[in-house]
Amino acid sequence: MQPAGSAAPLVSGPTTEPTTGPTTGPTTGPARLGDPPPTELLDAAELISVDELRATQLSRLRWTLRHAYDNVPFYRRSFDAAGVHPDDCRELADLSRFPTTSKADLRDNYPFGMFAVPQERVRRIHASSGTTGRPTVVGYTEGDIDVWSQVMARSIRAAGGRPGHKVHNAYGYGLFTGGLGAHYGIERLGATAIPVSGGMTPRQVQLIQDFRPDVIMVTPSYLLTVIDEFERQGIDPSTSSLRVGIFGAEPWTEQMRLEIEDRMDMHAVDIYGLSEVMGPGVSQECVETKDGLHIWEDHFYPEVIDPLDATVLPDGEQGELLFTSLTKEALPIIRYRTRDLTTLRPGTARPAMRRMDKITGRTDDMIILRGVNVFPTQIEELVLRTTGLSPHFQLVLSTQGRMDALQVRVEARHDTGTDRRAAAATELVRAVKESVGISVTCSVLDPDTLERSLGKLHRLVDHRQR
Ligand code: DLL
Repeated sequence: MQPAGSAAPLVSGPTTEPTTGPTTGPTTGPARLGDPPPTELLDAAELISVDELRATQLSRLRWTLRHAYDNVPFYRRSFDAAGVHPDDCRELADLSRFPTTSKADLRDNYPFGMFAVPQERVRRIHASSGTTGRPTVVGYTEGDIDVWSQVMARSIRAAGGRPGHKVHNAYGYGLFTGGLGAHYGIERLGATAIPVSGGMTPRQVQLIQDFRPDVIMVTPSYLLTVIDEFERQGIDPSTSSLRVGIFGAEPWTEQMRLEIEDRMDMHAVDIYGLSEVMGPGVSQECVETKDGLHIWEDHFYPEVIDPLDATVLPDGEQGELLFTSLTKEALPIIRYRTRDLTTLRPGTARPAMRRMDKITGRTDDMIILRGVNVFPTQIEELVLRTTGLSPHFQLVLSTQGRMDALQVRVEARHDTGTDRRAAAATELVRAVKESVGISVTCSVLDPDTLERSLGKLHRLVDHRQR
């Protein structure tokens, strides 16, 4: 896709040899799921060198800054107020001189104030659920949907999906970007989409048993609900046809990967994205390495900043992730503050594209308990390491006296006897104290008592008095 009015060279067709080759699989012989994709299946952009990538990024960035400045009054005002102009961007590092954009900016320009093209060119609109205040609204031109489909197809392929596979898509369809974003990618890959959406869990199991999909795309928390349903129906989930799961839209841990891979006997890989930047498919873990998510940097330029003073941090340091879109037409986004915390690292399976670590949490999910920062993912790791405890848990914050208190409410596994529960609770409380440094209480509940989420999971219940 050529961005409107862009002079940016597009990476397509044959490219020169990459400086270091990606880990691609043999081009002949039977391919197993979990093998790297053969080179001829990759997009040309996955094979380019770092130098070629940086040149492409710079010309696309300059186009994006100009497009935003010329067509979105919000960006013109914010650039002018910061004393910068698109022409000031001569190298990629100059981007740090430009102001950041936040969710509040999108809300303030509700509904269509951030759009950079006339409405006749907008083919689709998505929106965040907007649990607090106005939803954030995002739009896509035909070209944007084309790019999105392409990066999603790339993501599914990196996860182990192939043309001809059947893909059970249990991400929610609708204003949420998960369902339709994945759907277009599945079709673009040449695979078969099974557009189930979320909910009606018994039917999810029936369709998996009857249609025999190779790949499932779903939030990790909802997959756990589906696994439980398999077991409720007396079916061993590891006997299902599924061989790859592509999980995202919420944080999940290495320990959860082990749990899912063990119970389903399949590869579990991470997909990341956000509506403001595109939707799912901004970055993807490669099945052959499972070592963090490769960012599709030919379309999304990442930076990591110190969340407190917004200074750019070098790769290798943890901070808040920022994205600038490089090819988006309807909603160019400049230095968007994701609030997600991660670290940028050099590429491996796709050498030119940097990786981001699995997201440990969002700045807004961070619990500060008596001065110690805690993320729900830290508790998840420990719950899953405790014998007898299931992955279904909730964190309840309350005020006791003048102090904040944290209770972990966690379901026992089905095969955990009531006599084991007290020991499991004690073990978890001790593990949290030792590894996180905070005192919590733990109550172990009967299986199937906590509410299940059909989409994104919210682990935190805040009963604190303010
Ligand atoms: O959740 C897009 C998506 C759909 C991604 C399906 C992956 C799969 P939003 O609803 O705008 O978009 O929410 C974006 O979700 O800023 C993160 O906080 C969180 N998130 C998304 N993917 C991951 C992930 C979609 N793999 C917000 N790990 C982001 C951790 C994730 N958090």
